[in-house]
Amino acid sequence: MDERAGQRAGRQPQPAAAESWLGRRLEVRVEAIAHGGHCVARSAGRVVFVRHALPGETVLAEVTEDRGGSFCRADAVEIRTASPDRVSRPCPYAHPGGCGGCDFQHVSLPGQRALKAAVVAEQLSRLAGLERAVTVQPLDDGDGLGWRRRVRFAVGPAGELGLRAHRSHRVVPLSHCPIGAPGVGDARALQSDWPGLAELEVAVDDRGEVVELAHRSRPARPRRDSRGRHGGNRRPARPVLSTEQLSGPPALRYAVAGREFTVHPAGFWQTHPQAAEVFTATVLRAASARPGERVLDLYAGSGLFTAALASAVTSTGRVLGLEAEPTAVADAGANLADQPWAAVRRATVSAATVQAATGDLSADGVDIVVLDPPRSGAGREVLSAILAAGPRVVIYVACDPAALARDVRIALDAGWQLDELSAFDAFPMTHHVECIAVLRPLWNRS
Ligand SMILES: C[S@@+](CC[C@H](N)C(=O)[O-])C[C@H]1O[C@@H](n2cnc3c(N)ncnc32)[C@H](O)[C@@H]1O
Repeated sequence: MDERAGQRAGRQPQPAAAESWLGRRLEVRVEAIAHGGHCVARSAGRVVFVRHALPGETVLAEVTEDRGGSFCRADAVEIRTASPDRVSRPCPYAHPGGCGGCDFQHVSLPGQRALKAAVVAEQLSRLAGLERAVTVQPLDDGDGLGWRRRVRFAVGPAGELGLRAHRSHRVVPLSHCPIGAPGVGDARALQSDWPGLAELEVAVDDRGEVVELAHRSRPARPRRDSRGRHGGNRRPARPVLSTEQLSGPPALRYAVAGREFTVHPAGFWQTHPQAAEVFTATVLRAASARPGERVLDLYAGSGLFTAALASAVTSTGRVLGLEAEPTAVADAGANLADQPWAAVRRATVSAATVQAATGDLSADGVDIVVLDPPRSGAGREVLSAILAAGPRVVIYVACDPAALARDVRIALDAGWQLDELSAFDAFPMTHHVECIAVLRPLWNRS
């Protein structure tokens, strides 16, 4: 269940929030997990989204946010009846009122994966109308700690580094972050204060090379109105950050399937050490690309999937990636230098750019489309353009199961089917989960 579903569920019986429940303590029986790292409970006809709880538990929940209406938010501050999946939290900062970075530190790893599987299944059922059993696979046999290779630390009022509390700007100072990979979770930067910075980002590559990036707020320029004029009825100015590399090499390096990739220090790379390898293998298996085929790789980053697909289609085929970030496009140029039949083009993915890319690949459409969009998903226009390009398979790499389910619904309505769905625990201790969905047209099962 998400917030909108919570609002709907809370409509019966009528909401009872004449006065704020903020700070109130409620004994509740915890129901299902919801999308976003909290569980659903009910009290006096209202939905209560409870963090730090588990389905089946009875907890004392303290209300942390109440904006009126049919639901409020709470933290489980006392566990009256514990779930068998409850464990003691390995991170000292993960508790009610503490760091908001992780949602599931109080849950065993198998329990975390079961919760994520339930969320993916629920989103597919509610938003795509598909009933499907989901299994979330681990990416390694570790303890769920020490995996995160990029962290953007917040900076507190006195310059101390930390992470923000849940749904808050408050910075919880940290001396270490247990889910951070070596060099990141124990970053040298955590031993100092950084007054004047807005954020400090730390990332590590396969060689153990660490980069530190300082993000500073710049005075924001007021937004222009729709006619390009300043002033008048202005919308609020956007906070603007400038970024400066403080230390580390000019590029990060990662190896996948025997190829080395160069990535800009601020660029995107899969954050779990096993993710790039496992996702690439899953995409390749689903694609079953043949020599000579034409492939579109949307939201291509620095060319991770582009390169693997280029090897599969060989020099008789073509792979074209689209990517908005100029540094990633430049990295992709270097990463694909030995595969001149593959390229990543600088473009914002839209129906128009997908159509243009398809036309450039072949007058007959494309064979395979891979897309790996940001959390918001691809959306109706982009997805419709992808399906109209006539691929025999669409492979959708998704970091948000709700956005995936909405986009899958669009494909189902266009006569496609969800042929396979893999889900990976790429972000242990958090509620996040990565899915790879394989869509095929019902009229062509090749
Ligand atoms: C989740 S990453 C995936 C990158 C690549 N597939 C990988 O696994 O390394 C998404 C990428 O999409 C890019 N991006 C985000 N919005 C975009 C848009 N509207 N058009 C094109 N690229 C976009 C980001 O810069 C980022 O590189």
